[in-house]
Amino acid sequence: MLNLKACIFDLDGVIVDTARHHFAAWKKLADELVVPFTEEDNHRLKGVSRVDSLEYILQKGDLVLDSATKLRLMDRKNMLYLNLAKGTSPGDVLPGIVPLMDEMAGLNVSIGLGSSSKNAHMILDKLNLTSRFDTIVDGNNITLSKPDPEVFLKAAQAMSVTPQQCLVFEDAQSGVEAALAGGFQVVGVGHGLEDAHVNYGSLKGLTLEAILKQLALA
Ligand code: BG6
Ligand code: MG
Repeated sequence: MLNLKACIFDLDGVIVDTARHHFAAWKKLADELVVPFTEEDNHRLKGVSRVDSLEYILQKGDLVLDSATKLRLMDRKNMLYLNLAKGTSPGDVLPGIVPLMDEMAGLNVSIGLGSSSKNAHMILDKLNLTSRFDTIVDGNNITLSKPDPEVFLKAAQAMSVTPQQCLVFEDAQSGVEAALAGGFQVVGVGHGLEDAHVNYGSLKGLTLEAILKQLALA
């Protein structure tokens, strides 16, 4: 049985629905580059870093660009994203997150963030959630993007717990793979994450107790 000491949350698509803003921004950039970009492409890019996402799109469009142009395109995508996300407010925290965090705090379970995004601090501030976290590891602190486990391993290390004592909450296939590669238990949030130990369409109304019960059966 899991001796739970910490939970690590992904940000985009788990805590807040900013995943749709990332999608819209990449779609616009891809349209400008005349590269087809579908929901399926978006699904593959969830959890993937800005630079790796751009490389994916360029490869799809058979485009070879110099590094200055790539930097400019990443800046453009980020500007489009920031513009879409600028109105993010505490009311945008997805259902179930705050009650789960309250329950974790009551049980002395540490709370960490493990996100590929370099905008994570800014988004958490807009959501008024920053002070809830014992550690925040994001795209600024890692060299390898999900599906590499680095982001989760760093968060676990910062909280002085082992992966086996942690639960990771993820909405992306790359994130589920990253957590499994690091030896974590994984809660999939959303659909089609069959590799996660347990999978829920949404965290609304869920308790940590119920998740742990289902994990024990899984
Ligand atoms: C992840 C998102 O959390 O962060 C991806 O799921 C995004 O869609 C990645 O590309 C990097 O985000 P940012 O904010 O650093 O461009
Ligand atoms: Mg995500």
